[in-house]
Amino acid sequence: MFSFENKIVVITGAAGGIPTATAKLFYDLGASLALGDLDVDKITGATAAMDGDRVLCHALDVTSTTSFDSFKAAVMERYGRCDVLVTAAGLYRDRMVAEMTDAEWATMMAVNVDGVFRACRAFGDAMGEGGAIVNIASLAGHKGSREHAHYAAAKGAVLSFSRSLAAELAPRVRVNCVSPGLVDTGFVASLLEKIGTAMEDATPMKRRGEPEDIARAIAFLASDWASFVTGETIHVNGGFSML
Ligand SMILES: NC(=O)c1ccc[n+]([C@@H]2O[C@H](COP(=O)([O-])OP(=O)(O)OC[C@H]3O[C@@H](n4cnc5c(N)ncnc54)[C@H](O)[C@@H]3O)[C@@H](O)[C@H]2O)c1
Repeated sequence: MFSFENKIVVITGAAGGIPTATAKLFYDLGASLALGDLDVDKITGATAAMDGDRVLCHALDVTSTTSFDSFKAAVMERYGRCDVLVTAAGLYRDRMVAEMTDAEWATMMAVNVDGVFRACRAFGDAMGEGGAIVNIASLAGHKGSREHAHYAAAKGAVLSFSRSLAAELAPRVRVNCVSPGLVDTGFVASLLEKIGTAMEDATPMKRRGEPEDIARAIAFLASDWASFVTGETIHVNGGFSML
C-alpha cells in the first residue's frame, strides 16, 4: 500500500460526504491535512478524534479569492507547503434550462468550476516536485444531466481545465480527475427522491457508490503509484458509464 507519511494534503469542500471519507483515508495513510469548507464546525467535529498537529480546519468559500488567500496563508503558516490538492467543494441543484435564472447559472459555475480554478491557482505554485492535484468532476460532465445543465456544464469544464493545467504544471505536478457516478451522500438526496433505485438497478455493480469508493481512487491518483498518470480521468460508477 502507498503511504502519505510527511505529505500535506489540502481538501476543499472538506465537510462533505466524499471529502470527509477522503480526508480520513489520507489521514490513515499518514498525511497531515488542511481542510476548508463553508461549514468549518462540521469539519472540526468530523476530525475531533484525529491528532491536532496533523489537522488544520479553516473556513473557506471557494467562490472568493480573498477566502482562498486566507486559507492558503493558514496552510503555509502551519505546514509551509502543499503536496496534494483535492478539489471537492460542489453544489447540485435541480432546474430546467428554460426556468434557470442568470443568478442560478452563475452560482453553479462559481462553486463547481471557478472554485476549482481558484484552488488550483492558489495551491499549484505551492507544490514542489512530485505534487498532485485531483479534481472531482462527475459522470454528468461527460454525459450531461437533465435538469442539471449548469452542473453538468461546470463539471465538463473541470475536465478540460484539468487537462490544460496538467500540460502547464508537468513535470513538477500531476493533475487528474475522478468522475463519480451516483454516490450515497446528501448531495443527491433530491435526485434519489425522484428516481428511487432506478440508477442502481441499471448499474452493472447493482449498488450506489460509497464515499470510500471515490476516496480510494483519489488516493491512488495522488500517490506515487500513479507517478506516470497525468491529464487523465478515472470513472468510478460501478460500470454505469459503459452502458
Ligand atoms: N454524491 C454524488 O453522487 C456525486 C457524484 C458526482 C460528483 N460528485 C462530486 O463530489 C464532490 C463532493 O460531493 P459530496 O457528494 O460529498 O457532496 P456534499 O454536499 O456532501 O459535499 C460538498 C461540500 O462542498 C461544500 N461547499 C459548497 N459550496 C461551497 C463553497 N462555496 N465553498 C466551500 N465549500 C463549499 C459544502 O459545504 C459541502 O461540505 C462534489 O464536487 C460533487 O460535485 C458527487
